Amino acid sequence: MGYEHITVEPIAGACGAEIGGIDLSQPLNDSVFGEVKQAFVDHQVIFFRDQDITEDQHKDFGRRFGTLNIHPRYVPLEGHPEIFPIRKDPEVKKIVGGVWHHDLTHLPEPPLGAILYALDVPPTGGDTMFSSQYLAYETLSDGLKETLAGLVGVHDNRIQAPKIASDRNAERSSKLREGADAVEEPECEHPVVITHPESGRKALYVNKIRTHRFKDMTEEESRPLLQYLFGHTEKPEFTCRFRWRKGSIAFWDNRCVMHRALNDYQGHKRYMNRVTVNGARPV
Ligand code: SIN
Repeated sequence: MGYEHITVEPIAGACGAEIGGIDLSQPLNDSVFGEVKQAFVDHQVIFFRDQDITEDQHKDFGRRFGTLNIHPRYVPLEGHPEIFPIRKDPEVKKIVGGVWHHDLTHLPEPPLGAILYALDVPPTGGDTMFSSQYLAYETLSDGLKETLAGLVGVHDNRIQAPKIASDRNAERSSKLREGADAVEEPECEHPVVITHPESGRKALYVNKIRTHRFKDMTEEESRPLLQYLFGHTEKPEFTCRFRWRKGSIAFWDNRCVMHRALNDYQGHKRYMNRVTVNGARPV
């Protein structure tokens, strides 16, 4: 579509576009907001540069898309339960989100998306990658698409869930809440192929940190096909890679892209704030 109020520059063939002509510290009128929303649907992940927003403005932008998620496990930013601080201090080696994933797919209603704002970035490195799960689905053979149409994925949080929260907290700058190790998280089922409610396109919906088997099959039986799908979803030709600057924002659609943060900036600091928008049950 044509845009009258904003500029939209794709950054890769698969997904991702940089949006210009917008200041997110100001309220967006409905016409501008409508174009941002359209760009989000069209490009799956959108980026803004040189923004200077407060925590409240960050949350206000998120609320234009839905209610905000309070992360079940991480300590929020003080005074802002809806802000998940994603931090790495120079002396810390491990990061949050360093493996390809969708956010929180062990929940019955996983997030619609997340808005990540860069407060402090390393001189180089710390990029985030995104992978279009529309393309992952569309490039499968007709035979495999037919097989997947009948499959339901069983998701759980066993890899992310800490056995002992304090051990995990000793290794990472983003801290888990006290009692995070006792949070009960039952398994949850989602179709392996979902249809995006706004674009109408089909997307693959499995990820290696939370999808451990197919419904009515054992993990052993499910593993070969899941392993194939995990490898397929990460193919470079489905991806884009975003280089952060202070004041950059990425807003990804958790229904059709996976993401992965790169841990290649040892000895440097990277501070981000994340606002996560609640979503609906995938179908
Ligand atoms: C995440 O939300 O998974 C982390 C993304 C990032 O830090 O780039």
